[in-house]
Amino acid sequence: MTSVLLICGSLQKVSSNRALLDVVRTRFTELRIETAESVDVGSVPAFNVDRAETPGSVVVDFRAQLVHSDAVVLSSPEYAAAIPGALKNALDWIVGSAELYTKPVAVLSAGTTGGEHARRQLIRSLTWQGAHVVAHLGVAAPRTKSDQAGRIVDPATIDEIEDLVDRILLALNGPAKELVEQTLAWAGVGVEHIAPARLPEA
Ligand SMILES: Cc1cc2nc3c(=O)[nH]c(=O)nc-3n(C[C@H](O)[C@H](O)[C@H](O)COP(=O)(O)O)c2cc1C
Repeated sequence: MTSVLLICGSLQKVSSNRALLDVVRTRFTELRIETAESVDVGSVPAFNVDRAETPGSVVVDFRAQLVHSDAVVLSSPEYAAAIPGALKNALDWIVGSAELYTKPVAVLSAGTTGGEHARRQLIRSLTWQGAHVVAHLGVAAPRTKSDQAGRIVDPATIDEIEDLVDRILLALNGPAKELVEQTLAWAGVGVEHIAPARLPEA
């Protein structure tokens, strides 16, 4: 069964980024696609190259979740024009182990101005890890698009998230090159950085 891993970059209990992922989860569930929530990025120890082979159980679980997933959706706040340190730290653990290599990934950011810097930074860094970033979406002023419990209720935002899910489905079902090129063009990342698809096993 197809499985999509959801990664939240926010550690806040009531989080707009988690609320976006809730909409993503609902949509995939309607489409009978399994989703799983990744380990809490706040529980991942500080990255240390010396420990790359013996990283401890949280990182081992995180890597296993990524191996098991067919696609990944990340939603992250933007802090001072960058992604949170906890999220970057978690992603640093998988550069060498390469679980994201050629995997379809979508990036969202809910934040005051829609997390444009956070998205550009994520798209660049994930591409450097070999991920195929096929979609991105910024949601500005997310609290104005939520109900009192923090759930996203704005129909236009829900439509945009469903469009993002559609792009992931396209990537899962066929060549993703055009989707990746569009995403990288927005982020100002050269297409020469797109990881070539793995060759079929001999
Ligand atoms: C320390 C700090 C720095 C922030 N810097 C930015 C920023 O540079 N750009 C932006 O759009 N929002 C910024 N914000 C707003 C957050 O992105 C916004 O509160 C977001 O909704 C938090 O995500 P969450 O609700 O998922 O935790 C900042 C918030 C904090 C607490």
